[in-house]
Amino acid sequence: MESRDLGFWEKYNACLKTGAQVAVTGEDGQCKAAISYTHVFLNEHKASDFLNIECKRILQLGASDGKFIADYKQSHNDWTFVGYDYSKNAVDALLKKGIEAREVDLDAIDKSKDEPRLSYGEQIREDIINPVNIFMIRVLQHLEPSSVILLLFHLIDCAAPGSVFFIANNVDDEEEKKDDLEKKEMTVRTPGYVASFFLPRTDMQVLMVSRVNLKTDELLIIKKI
Ligand SMILES: C[S@@+](CC[C@H](N)C(=O)[O-])C[C@H]1O[C@@H](n2cnc3c(N)ncnc32)[C@H](O)[C@@H]1O
Repeated sequence: MESRDLGFWEKYNACLKTGAQVAVTGEDGQCKAAISYTHVFLNEHKASDFLNIECKRILQLGASDGKFIADYKQSHNDWTFVGYDYSKNAVDALLKKGIEAREVDLDAIDKSKDEPRLSYGEQIREDIINPVNIFMIRVLQHLEPSSVILLLFHLIDCAAPGSVFFIANNVDDEEEKKDDLEKKEMTVRTPGYVASFFLPRTDMQVLMVSRVNLKTDELLIIKKI
């Protein structure tokens, strides 16, 4: 695997540590600040109504500095939380908040076998072997298309029944599109692309498919049955 330029995400997560907030488009079209994207989707768009509260577990991929988990943990201290991120600043912040953190590059693929597979596949399988709420909030859109495919199929195959997937991707951000890699535009940046992995499956129940934040984000909530 080539070494990755983490510069952007290290700076992003360092800024959050100092109290910076994220920016989202409100339903009125105005840009507004939020503590984290996960706060926006879980609280404002009512995704939290679909949490599997019996399993008492949250796994967050692209957990950043863990502000959502830390908030949630305050009122749910008997739950188990795990955060994945490849930014050292993010992992440090998670650990400082007492959150179990895994420093993992979600784009890491082992190509040494006949078929490419996720380098961290076994690790993540252990984290989803019991029912869990899996958050992937504004992270898939930043991965390589081939990693997204492997990751989604792996999660679908390995997640215990009862697990709930919370996925939000920016699918229509003209400003971001200008800067981001064009090759990603036809994948997670295409409306309906991520949903298409789940919709044909009889073991997946779609709880929500919605365009929010003035239709710039696709919010998917899917339960493995
Ligand atoms: C836009 S932030 C979203 C953070 C958080 N989910 C939220 O709701 O605010 C994306 C996060 O994904 C992480 N990330 C990006 N690419 C990654 C990769 N290949 N492997 C692991 N983490 C990655 C970044 O370090 C960053 O913390």
